[in-house]
Amino acid sequence: MISPPPRPVATKPLVSLRNVRVVLGGQPILRGVTADIARGQITALIGLNGSGKTTLLRTLVNEYPHTGTIEFHCGHDHSQPYPEAIGYVPQRLTLDARLPLTVRDFLALTLSRRPLFFGISRATAQKSQSILERVGAAECLDVPVEGLSGGQLQRVLLALALEPQPELLLLDEPAAGIDFKDQQRFYDLIATINRETGVTVLMVSHDLNMVRTYAHEVMCLRHGAIQCQGSPAEVLTPINLALVFGTQLPTFSSYNGS
Ligand SMILES: Nc1ncnc2c1ncn2[C@@H]1O[C@H](COP(=O)(O)OP(=O)(O)OP(=O)(O)O)[C@@H](O)[C@H]1O
Ligand SMILES: [Mg+2]
Repeated sequence: MISPPPRPVATKPLVSLRNVRVVLGGQPILRGVTADIARGQITALIGLNGSGKTTLLRTLVNEYPHTGTIEFHCGHDHSQPYPEAIGYVPQRLTLDARLPLTVRDFLALTLSRRPLFFGISRATAQKSQSILERVGAAECLDVPVEGLSGGQLQRVLLALALEPQPELLLLDEPAAGIDFKDQQRFYDLIATINRETGVTVLMVSHDLNMVRTYAHEVMCLRHGAIQCQGSPAEVLTPINLALVFGTQLPTFSSYNGS
């Protein structure tokens, strides 16, 4: 007897947020976020300074208590309640400049549980080398972390976020402060990793041109709530941008409906 073909698995979003609220220091920061993060896509999160973008990312990794629901639909059958790994590239890195850690030491400290005074194991050294090669930053291995350029630091942090292979990659302004050429290379790398691994990406960006070029979906946050969500063509219209940023952005008039 021929068995029927397997029923296709409905494509659920990787993450569904419903009425997510976060209070920090007695102030409501997220005021009822309801949104879906599309599986396997690059979603850009945009909004004014202080609108709650970083808070939303940190809430997704359980750094802040919340009310409302955050549901993950992970694993090959989408039934796992939490991803095995979430990669996170923070908005800024606060390291003590008096501690002259090289990238080699920094990676070893993060990748292995072995104290540095026992030395770096051969396996960790090889892993550090290979994760840096993957993001085109192999030349950074012996550079002090404090001496990295903005673009190099972002690549090193991305290398760590990709180990182990995450199901969700959270990038908080990953290309802020780096020059246009490096920015483009960085976003190209994210696009390649997304295509090759199918990782779901949620990235905060203030660069609407990059969002337009690289994101499949855009979510706009305003005063701790989602103002609009959709494809870049749907969302990056002068009317929406005026609502989200509270001002006219004349340079984006050419994006209307294009
Ligand atoms: N731990 C905290 N305690 C109290 N208030 C906080 C805390 N963290 C963030 N906030 C406040 O929450 C608001 C949102 O901050 P958040 O960092 O999420 O904004 P953002 O959208 O990422 O801004 P930016 O674009 O500047 O990075 C801000 O008013 C901030 O001062
Ligand atoms: Mg932020």
